[in-house]
Amino acid sequence: MAQETFAPPVSEWYYPSDSVKENAIVRDYESLYAEAQGDLEGFWARQAEKLDWFAPWEKVLDASEAPFYKWFVGAKTNIAYNALDRHIKTWRRNKLALVWEGEPGDKQTFSYWRLWREVNKFANVLKGMGVRKGDRVTVYMGRVPELVIAMLACAKIGAVHSVVYGGFSEHALADRIEDAQSRVLITCDGAWLRGNIVRLKDVVDEAVRRSPIVETVIVVKRTAHDIAMEQGRDYWYHDLMALPIANGNCESVEMDAEDPLFILYTSGTTGKPKGILHTHGGYQVYTSATLEWVFDLKDEDRWWCAADPGWITGHSYIVYGPLILGATSILYEGAPNQPYPNRWWKIVEEYGVTVLYTAPTAIRGLMRFGDAWPNRHDLSSLRLLGSVGEPINPEAWRWFYKVIGKERCPIMDTWWQTETGGFMISPVPSVGLKPGSATRPIPGVEVDVVDDHGVPCPPGVDGNLVIKQPWPGMLRTVYKDPDRFVKQYWTTYQDQGWYITGDSARKDDDGYFWIIGRNDDVIKVSGYRLGTAEVESGLVSHPAVAEAAVIGMPDEVRGSVIYAYCILKAGLEGSDALLDELKNHIRHEIGPIAVPARIEFVPQLPKTRSGKIMRRVLKARATGQPEGDLSTLEE
Ligand code: WT7
Repeated sequence: MAQETFAPPVSEWYYPSDSVKENAIVRDYESLYAEAQGDLEGFWARQAEKLDWFAPWEKVLDASEAPFYKWFVGAKTNIAYNALDRHIKTWRRNKLALVWEGEPGDKQTFSYWRLWREVNKFANVLKGMGVRKGDRVTVYMGRVPELVIAMLACAKIGAVHSVVYGGFSEHALADRIEDAQSRVLITCDGAWLRGNIVRLKDVVDEAVRRSPIVETVIVVKRTAHDIAMEQGRDYWYHDLMALPIANGNCESVEMDAEDPLFILYTSGTTGKPKGILHTHGGYQVYTSATLEWVFDLKDEDRWWCAADPGWITGHSYIVYGPLILGATSILYEGAPNQPYPNRWWKIVEEYGVTVLYTAPTAIRGLMRFGDAWPNRHDLSSLRLLGSVGEPINPEAWRWFYKVIGKERCPIMDTWWQTETGGFMISPVPSVGLKPGSATRPIPGVEVDVVDDHGVPCPPGVDGNLVIKQPWPGMLRTVYKDPDRFVKQYWTTYQDQGWYITGDSARKDDDGYFWIIGRNDDVIKVSGYRLGTAEVESGLVSHPAVAEAAVIGMPDEVRGSVIYAYCILKAGLEGSDALLDELKNHIRHEIGPIAVPARIEFVPQLPKTRSGKIMRRVLKARATGQPEGDLSTLEE
């Protein structure tokens, strides 16, 4: 059942101006799409040829072990070479790669040359700490330049980074360290958020106590508050970077196109997060090509993807995609309303941001503060806007379009997933838009809406969103769990060989896609992906809880919030104190984003006769909707 439902399609069209159309990199979507469908391998080979390879591929796509597809088979490359090394041989060595603003107002800029040198130095440090090709390095940091440096340094020496979002708790971090078997962890003493210090290193200390596999912790000094440093285990980043070993030259290791680049954990239908694995070759081609088509990036742009580098959006479109294209990327550390709700608009004005890419939840949050805040700033540098993470409701779309984009800037509503590596359904600037629709698939991508038997749904009818052919940015497996990879994504439509996205969607008469929401047990809270099972097992890990069920409930700003229903252990009474304790418990088990908006103590949960919790019934009750077919409900 869909977790979120939005208004039915509106047939309100928005067309780009002639100048947007004429200057767009993709002027003719239809023919680019047709070119790809006519010769998929040739099409992707032509995109790949724009990058540097140490040795060419023998085969573009190998489907012999599908769904374990391989791309650019036999090629040698390194994504860090394409993101950095190749630019410093050109005039771009002096171009800004990264512009960083800290929440308290401090600033740093990195030319391609400076970023390249910092990455080389840190890559040499990592090598000196014994990190070798194929080793997994966990990164748990705030939004600081050193996070970008750490990712690229890993890539450069062939280590596999596993970035864990800085909002996760010690328990979630420990699980991810354990799964990846990381011996090295990179972190910060703290991060700034809404004027407060988030004590990252304390979380790390607790996580490492739970997962003692970590031998080395490298700590970036950001907030400079007192922290514990364990001798022989913990090292300051700045101390290591001052050692002779931190030499400014470091070759990018030759990687096989299919060698792993990173693992990124995401929530699914079971309690255990999945380690989504991406590789050097296909991912670099896919992120750079899609970013160029959709956001039309040119050398004169100032690109701001306001996501967190700890999520796939940041991996693909703050770090790798923009750097491969030689773009200037902005990274801002803190909250959009710190100290006032004009912080983002000030950044747009001050840095001359030309393209701003964010999430519906942020747009709705900023919209609530009113138009006066953005209206105080000169936003005329903007030429394109973007949205990602969940369906954007037409009201937020129109506000973004009118008040921020002044009706000049088309909005690119990009649908994709951690698993897809890059945009899958998205407009390009030259096409007509309908608020709330991600429009049509990216060239080289074939998607459809089908019923449970695989029969295409007619326009206007909801069904399962599937992807019908492989693409270079696709996940290669679930780390250490190939069976789960096959079962989760490829078994439902095994005969057809389609990838199931877990989303429900509908097409309209113009072939535009409308994403409705998840139809599995995944809830999107402020665009963050959480599994019902993950939150439920967090709740039952508290000694007072016998059973728990959670559902996603619509919320005006956050898209969805979590409602939880708990059966307490025999003899225990619910109380306000226990409610607070449970919320706190979840904060430590998963992180603040997973804390339920509401927890109710109940004597029973609606279950099927086979014992499966009927979340559908809970949701119907919570929203006051009819409960539907109750024939499978046990007494
Ligand atoms: C799920 C994937 C991809 C980066 C951020 C999320 C939802 C994502 C859209 C959109 C409607 C969207 C889907 C998808 N989603 N973008 N433009 N319109 N829904 O990555 O955490 O892996 O979540 O986010 O439900 O399956 P993720």
